[in-house]
Amino acid sequence: MRRREFYYREAQRIGYRSRATFKLKQIQDKFNVFKIGDIVLDVGAAPGGWSQIATEFVGIPGRVYAIDIEFIEPIDFVISIQGDITDKKTHERLMTLISEPVDIIISDLSPKVSGNWSTDHARQIFLTEHALRLAVSGLLKQGGKFVSKIFQGDLYEQFIANLKVLFTVVYLFKPKASRKGSAEIYVIAKGLKRGPRKKRKPAKKEEQND
Ligand SMILES: C[S@@+](CC[C@H](N)C(=O)[O-])C[C@H]1O[C@@H](n2cnc3c(N)ncnc32)[C@H](O)[C@@H]1O
Repeated sequence: MRRREFYYREAQRIGYRSRATFKLKQIQDKFNVFKIGDIVLDVGAAPGGWSQIATEFVGIPGRVYAIDIEFIEPIDFVISIQGDITDKKTHERLMTLISEPVDIIISDLSPKVSGNWSTDHARQIFLTEHALRLAVSGLLKQGGKFVSKIFQGDLYEQFIANLKVLFTVVYLFKPKASRKGSAEIYVIAKGLKRGPRKKRKPAKKEEQND
């Protein structure tokens, strides 16, 4: 059985919404990113596999927020909103919704792929830069972690160089569940050097799926 099919079947068997869930599990096994009680923001979360397993990693005292341009079917213990991460209003909604800086931002953002690699790569980096912008604009706490998929291409080196300025350590990892031939890679950045800059507004309840 091919690797891709294996993870697809496993996801179905366990009840995870995506095969991608195993990529985050393999990241956790190797880099020990999540702790019980952590607050997590999952960006580009639909259909919700990463959010599902993130709730297992952080347990009942933890919290998971999820955002996607698509609607996310409700997931137990996940607070989700629908919005475009490149839209400033979405950032404002997230800042209002989430009352305190989060411990981890995870991003599996992908554009709708066109088949033209340099276009898809540029779009994916553009999306991921918006997730990173969230992190440095006060939503990720000082010392926090940023885990993200990256499409490799000519903008990749500069993106990693920027991460290395912002975080204390940056690891690159290709999980087994990621297709061998694919140009995606995952970055695990730990220790955000700058803390929140803005005074945060109090939390407001939005669509809550729990
Ligand atoms: C590979 S999927 C994420 C899969 C997810 N990690 C899981 O395990 O179920 C990539 C997601 O990025 C989302 N996305 C693409 N552009 C976006 C944008 N501008 N704002 C928010 N989400 C976006 C897509 O809608 C898609 O759901």
